[in-house]
This record gives sequence, structure tokens and C-alpha cells, in this order.
Amino acid sequence: MKIQNIYARQVLDSRGNPTIEVDVFTKSSIGSAAVPSGASTGKHEAYELRDKKKAFHGKGVLKAIENVNGKLAKKLKGMEIDEQRDIDDAMVKLDKTDNKKRLGANAILGVSMACTRAGANSYNLHLHEYLGALYGNKEFVLPVPFANIINGGVHAGNELKFQEFMIAPVKAKSFSEAVQIVSEVYHELKKLLEETYGKQATSVGDEGGFAPPINTPEEALDLIEAALEESGHKRKVRIAIDAAASEFYDKKTNFYEVGNGKHYTASELVEYYASLVNKYRIISIEDPFHEDDFESFAALRGKVAGKAQVVGDDLTVTSVERIKHAIKMGSCNVLLLKVNQIGTITEAMEAAYLAQTNDWSVMVSHRSGETEDPFIADLAVAINAGQIKLGAPARGERTSKYNQLLRIEESLGKKVKYAKF
Ligand code: PGA
Ligand code: ZN
Repeated sequence: MKIQNIYARQVLDSRGNPTIEVDVFTKSSIGSAAVPSGASTGKHEAYELRDKKKAFHGKGVLKAIENVNGKLAKKLKGMEIDEQRDIDDAMVKLDKTDNKKRLGANAILGVSMACTRAGANSYNLHLHEYLGALYGNKEFVLPVPFANIINGGVHAGNELKFQEFMIAPVKAKSFSEAVQIVSEVYHELKKLLEETYGKQATSVGDEGGFAPPINTPEEALDLIEAALEESGHKRKVRIAIDAAASEFYDKKTNFYEVGNGKHYTASELVEYYASLVNKYRIISIEDPFHEDDFESFAALRGKVAGKAQVVGDDLTVTSVERIKHAIKMGSCNVLLLKVNQIGTITEAMEAAYLAQTNDWSVMVSHRSGETEDPFIADLAVAINAGQIKLGAPARGERTSKYNQLLRIEESLGKKVKYAKF
């Protein structure tokens, strides 16, 4: 089944900024997909092409759209829709740069994602089945959702330095039970915030988690522990942090400021994280140090071994090269997988495979700027990631992923499994 046409349009993401939606047509099928966008973007990520003109405060994506409708469409027309690797290779070669700067990673990713949907539709398969076939996997496992219920950092208007405080129902029996737990804890927390700080404290950040007027990691963690206690689900749930530390690292002084008035060197920060892991039910810490500090990641990984996992996001940026270095250094044991950090589905799968074959886990992740497209839900199941970061169980761009996972769970019937942690 050959690609007949490719067409891109400008639509809005969840922050109200423009992004790309792509349609790919074969004789018998259509596939559409929309591209997400980060705010605490790693400096080693693939290049997001923006117009930098007056419209949309410079954030228009018309140039990227022109690249899809022009150069990319011309190159890919006539290619077989199920030859995903060839399609992605052709786009990478046409771009010629190592960070997809010429055509834009957003342009290339939109086409790559939409091709997999058109491919799935042409075979009458669910997207997770088709992506699973591309990955060589048929044994599907529903991932543990990591639900971001308190937002800070660049995602919120409060003073919290750590970007994300998440809950993970690791001991739920099924994905649907996990969703119920996450929703109930989210609402317990809302009640608690309203009682403690007043109604204003229940406004939310970019990923749908609450953005209360608090300053320190301990305040956020105490609130979550209290909400867990109230909910009755405490035994089934653990806590995860994404510090997104590049955002509160001072390059000039080499210090980190976590919101408690103290300044930490990297080695002091290792001790601080370890003390949080000992005090709270934390099982996962993402980006604990700035995006080039492979050594401190490794120090923390050693320090909290057996208690908490260390997740690479800005450090590894879904790039095989950087993941190889992190493996060599022993920096992490979980890869955060964001498709727009690298720009094609083939390369994202290569990154996942490298991680999984080196005893790392994979946590598939949304971005803070999302769309209604639930693509990553199917991807997480297809590659047996076991973990997925979806934001709060609220706001349409977040619930679209939870809800797609509920549909996939239902479609798997008796074969369904929930990830072990
Ligand atoms: P971003 O945040 O999408 O703004 O980069 C998500 C993350 O850091 O994991
Ligand atoms: Zn992150």
C-alpha cells in the first residue's frame, strides 16, 4: 500500500500554542497525528521549528508545515506505508542535520506518527498492535501510570522548584483500578488544598496537577502523603518526582536552589534526595541534576539503589548516543521516552530497545504542551514500557491518554496484564 498524499495543518496545543497535525493517505487508509511540545526542553533535544514571526508570538509552525506539504510529501509519495524504517530513514537523510534543524523535528515527527496510523488502518489493526509488530512484540502489558498531581517549576505559577510530584499506583491490580486510585487521590488532594490554603490553591499547572502556593519539596510531599492516607489507597501507591533540575541549577555558581532557602552542591543534593527517599514513599526520581551531569546521576543511582529508580529525561533526550553514554556511566536505570525529543518513531523505538536490552526500564512520556492525540498510550503498550507519564487525571489532553489505555485494556480482554513494578 503506497503513500499517495501527505498534508499538514496548524492546530493548537494544550497551552494554546500552534502545533502540527499531519494526515497521511494511501489508497485505502488515512492516518492522522498531532505533535506535542515541551516547556522545560532539554538543550540536546531535536529541533522544534518555529516561524519566529509576529503571528502567535513567534510560535507559528507554518514553515514546518510547508516542509511537510512540500519536500517531505514529494520524497515519500510512492513509498510503502508499512516500511516505517525506510520512511523515517528517508526523512532523516533529506534533513541532513544531526538535530533535524533543516526540516524541523516537529514536521518529521508528525509525518512519522501519521504514517504508523495509516499503516495500522491499512491492515485493520489497532495502533498498539501495529506499533507492537514494528517493535517485534505481541505480549502486551498495560503500563503503571505516573500521575502528576502537584505542578511546579516552569509548568506552574508557584514557587516550587521541583517540576513534578507524581503518584504511581504500583500495587493496583489492573490499569482501570490504577485510574480509579489516581482520580480518587487527586480529588482528596483537592479537598485538602482547599481546606488548608483556600480555593485559589486548587488552580492547576500545565499538566493538570495542582499548583498550590507552597515552596519546598517537603510541603508537596507531606500534602501527597496526607491525601494518600485520606484516600485509603496508601499501600498501593508510591510517589515519584521529576526535579527537572536544569531549571534550578545556577551555571555560574554551580549550586542548586530547591526552594528551602539552602544552596546545594551536586554532592550535597545527592544526600538531600537520599534523605527524601528515606522519609517519603518515593520510588522514582527524574532529572535530579542538570542535563550534562552524568556523574552525579550515577552517584545518586548508587546511593538509592534498591529503593528508588533514577530516570533520565533531559540527560538522555531519547537519543541512542546519549543513552549509550548514560549506560556506560551507570547514570540511570530508566529511560524517559519522548517521541519529539528525537523526531521519528523508528529512532524512538531504537532508543527504547537499547534501554530495555541493558536492563533499564522505559517510561513513555507526554509533554507539558500536549494535544488530544493519544498516540503515546498505544506506544507504551506496544513496546511493553511498563511505565507511562501522563500528567493529572484531568484536562482533555491528559485524559485522552488515560482513556485510550482503558480502551486498550478492554480490547485485550482475558489476555490483559498490568505491569509489575
Ligand atoms: P516538558 O516537561 O514537556 O515541559 O519538557 C516534561 C518533563 O520534563 O518530563
Ligand atoms: Zn522531565
